[in-house]
Amino acid sequence: MVKLVIDTDPGVDDAMAILFAARHPAIELLGMTSVFGNVTVAQATRNALYLAEKAGFSGLPVAEGAGAPLVLPPFPPSRQVHGDEGFGDLPAFVPQGRAVTETAAEFLVRLAREHAGELVLCPVGPITNIAEAIRLDPDFARNVKKIVIMGGALDVAGNITPHAEANTYHDPHALDLVLQSGADITMVGLDVTLQVLLSEPDFAELAIRAPRHGRFLQDISHFYLDFYHSVGLTGCGLHDPMAVIACIAPELFEAERTGLAVTLDGEAVGRTIRDPARPPVSVLTGCDAEAIRSLFFDILDEGAEAMPLAARG
Ligand code: RIB
Ligand code: CA
Repeated sequence: MVKLVIDTDPGVDDAMAILFAARHPAIELLGMTSVFGNVTVAQATRNALYLAEKAGFSGLPVAEGAGAPLVLPPFPPSRQVHGDEGFGDLPAFVPQGRAVTETAAEFLVRLAREHAGELVLCPVGPITNIAEAIRLDPDFARNVKKIVIMGGALDVAGNITPHAEANTYHDPHALDLVLQSGADITMVGLDVTLQVLLSEPDFAELAIRAPRHGRFLQDISHFYLDFYHSVGLTGCGLHDPMAVIACIAPELFEAERTGLAVTLDGEAVGRTIRDPARPPVSVLTGCDAEAIRSLFFDILDEGAEAMPLAARG
């Protein structure tokens, strides 16, 4: 079992990742931490709690994290991509539960100590909370088993500027700090996440195969797909779900080992670049797109559990 914490700014593709992780039999979801990015941090906390409850994980600890980057001034949420509340053009959903009293960084530090050598972190928003945890506990990078980051764009163009991927752009200093921590790091950037695109017919299939979660994902994806179409793509990248998939099925990816740095200012701020002087990390460069797509659909598939009782015989 993979003991997993997702650090997230839900967000349409974050919702896809969380519902996938909650259903995967090899994942033990220990909690989530929230961060600003696609939405404000308060909205991210609310949406993470709502998704946990929707997935049947009422009571899953959600710790609220950073509302702004480490160094840069606060950013407005990416409403043009994920909608006003984070779920496309759907209204806000109010969860029953509340965030735990620890901050995200405190929560991460405690879990990394309690599960030393076992905890896998999957940050799929700006990586500020992980950087704060590293600052809080000098042993943090050693205590975690692995950090699988959705972020960066090594040999492809950015998606928020020509140079930068959105999560990295929103806190370049945080990623640069994490990349120097010596932790076992995998970067799941646009180099691979744009190799698997989902379009309207894919979401329609998902809604049929998964009437509860798939239908919800279809509902929240219309607005998101409109954004992708507006930038000339035929579908949306499977960004955040691919980071979760890389946690449990690394054999579906090809990787390059290299040190990495982040450009911290100027026109190319947020760009991820090779830096041989840095500790090597794994940058995913290729993937088995068909296998990843099938895994995503198969795990979300509600099959017999979604059938009316009479039809189950
Ligand atoms: O660049 C893709 C990333 O930016 C994803 O994590 C998406 O949710 C947005 O935050
Ligand atoms: Ca995200």
